[in-house]
Amino acid sequence: MSTCLIITGAAGELGRIVLSAAANRSDVDCIIATTRSRSLDVPWPKVTCLTGVDLSEDAGARKLAESLDKIPCDNIGLLHCAGAFPATAPLHRTTLATVAAVFAANSLTFLGAAKAVLPRMRRQRSGRLVAFTSHTQEAAYPFMGPFNMSKLALLSAVQTLANENARFGIAINAIAVATLQTETERRIKPTGTYDDWVPVNGLAAYAIDMATTMGIQVNGSEIQYWKYSQSFFGDSIFSRNSIDPEILDPTNG
Ligand SMILES: NC(=O)c1ccc[n+]([C@@H]2O[C@H](COP(=O)([O-])OP(=O)(O)OC[C@H]3O[C@@H](n4cnc5c(N)ncnc54)[C@H](OP(=O)(O)O)[C@@H]3O)[C@@H](O)[C@H]2O)c1
Repeated sequence: MSTCLIITGAAGELGRIVLSAAANRSDVDCIIATTRSRSLDVPWPKVTCLTGVDLSEDAGARKLAESLDKIPCDNIGLLHCAGAFPATAPLHRTTLATVAAVFAANSLTFLGAAKAVLPRMRRQRSGRLVAFTSHTQEAAYPFMGPFNMSKLALLSAVQTLANENARFGIAINAIAVATLQTETERRIKPTGTYDDWVPVNGLAAYAIDMATTMGIQVNGSEIQYWKYSQSFFGDSIFSRNSIDPEILDPTNG
């Protein structure tokens, strides 16, 4: 059996970690890595890099589908790392253009990626798709409305498409993560308790397994990939996200 893994958002923080982990695995034979605005230098011959792929547009989805069509493999997995987290802010200070961009990055890109790979997977009667949601959408944290809503829309897409495609031997699941233990997150959230965050190497290995080797009986699920800690969930949400104290002051309109 020959396995092809597609990684979207491959130039992003998690995408780069997943790409490097997958490129070093002997059970992954080839990789298609897509980026939208950034280019990627990849030292691994088994990686094909597609740049300029905006998955919130039909043209981007088509470009990915055409690239996949050229690859003869019988086991195809998609790891959808594309997404966006805007600055935390109350809705009345957020433009609708920002809201639309967040929905495009978190929800529409998954639909674009799914449109690109599902026809081939349905013909082959097998495939796996994995998307990344967040713990924030269940907690409904304030000041993250557009992000929470877009991840709930993504989860709904995962569940609906899982039901739509189960009879073709395709499994579609989400992994809900909390703040990732990356250098970028540490830089933008200097007041957070870094040790409580999600270690990325273990997450990458788990996500690659889910997209390539795990059975398809788990379908339409959201795996909660984080560990509860009072310092992360109880106390530090506002300080971690650097919410302006003026916004929290109830005497301010
Ligand atoms: N980081 C965290 O702590 C955290 C927490 C919860 C959930 N997550 C989720 O985990 C996933 C990965 O996070 P991350 O930190 O790696 O994010 P990231 O560093 O911001 O990378 C996201 C990537 O998505 C790509 N992207 C955005 N819009 C796109 C579009 N329209 N078409 C194609 N690609 C697009 C960007 O590509 P270009 O750079 O090429 O433009 C970017 O590299 C995301 O879904 C995120 O929401 C992350």
